[in-house]
Amino acid sequence: MAIGTVVHLLRSCPSTNDIAKDLAHHGAAEGTVVLADEQTQGRGTKGRTWHSPPGLGLYVSIILRPPTGDVSLIPLMAGIAAAEAIHSTTSLEVGLKWPNDVVWSRKKLGGILCESEFVGSEPSYVILGIGLNIGQRRKDFPRELQAVAVSLRMILKRPVDRESLARSLFRALDSWYRKFLAGPNSDILRAFEAKFIFPIGKVLLVRTEKGKYTGVYRGFDWKARLMLETGGRKIFFPPADILEIG
Ligand code: BTN
Repeated sequence: MAIGTVVHLLRSCPSTNDIAKDLAHHGAAEGTVVLADEQTQGRGTKGRTWHSPPGLGLYVSIILRPPTGDVSLIPLMAGIAAAEAIHSTTSLEVGLKWPNDVVWSRKKLGGILCESEFVGSEPSYVILGIGLNIGQRRKDFPRELQAVAVSLRMILKRPVDRESLARSLFRALDSWYRKFLAGPNSDILRAFEAKFIFPIGKVLLVRTEKGKYTGVYRGFDWKARLMLETGGRKIFFPPADILEIG
């Protein structure tokens, strides 16, 4: 079933990821979407809150059931699809900040939260959660986010239709997800690198729990790890290890 063929539209829920998880547990088909006007307990990565006021953002979760193997490229694929959907709806060229952020001019426009359930080494389902800031004005963000968050309305100085954006997102996701399933995944890696805010060859500082690393950025590998070359050797950073990059 193509992504977005079935859409559960909710006025309010704690988190669309949790509703989608519940549906997946009860056998909902791959491609099923949960979309809410408001989330009262929207979640971001690393235990953060995703501020989700009514009617101002796109809060959406998609059930995927990849047949086997490595799901680490799914968040990258989602970032590419989100950027394409924003471009086809608004003509805006946004960037991606690995691993989870959609950004414009260094400010956060959206984010991706991918949560998987495994049976042994096989994924039973993946919940792909995407949040995009659409209609917020600066004052609609909590004070601590006002300097770092942005919405499409703030950038374009006009409203953007959530339904059109959602439809474009489902189309783009469907097309990239089919490529992901068909493999090889070099198209996803190259497309992500092209939208990544830093060009290959740039010297980057990467901060992880274990410390800070400086090196030349050499792209991403098939496990969605960032490759940094330093002192003649390559270091591979899994997305989960990253605290800051710049
Ligand atoms: C991040 O950048 O930290 C990820 C944010 C993900 C937010 C979306 S909104 C829809 C879905 N439901 C959630 O609770 N979170 C994701």
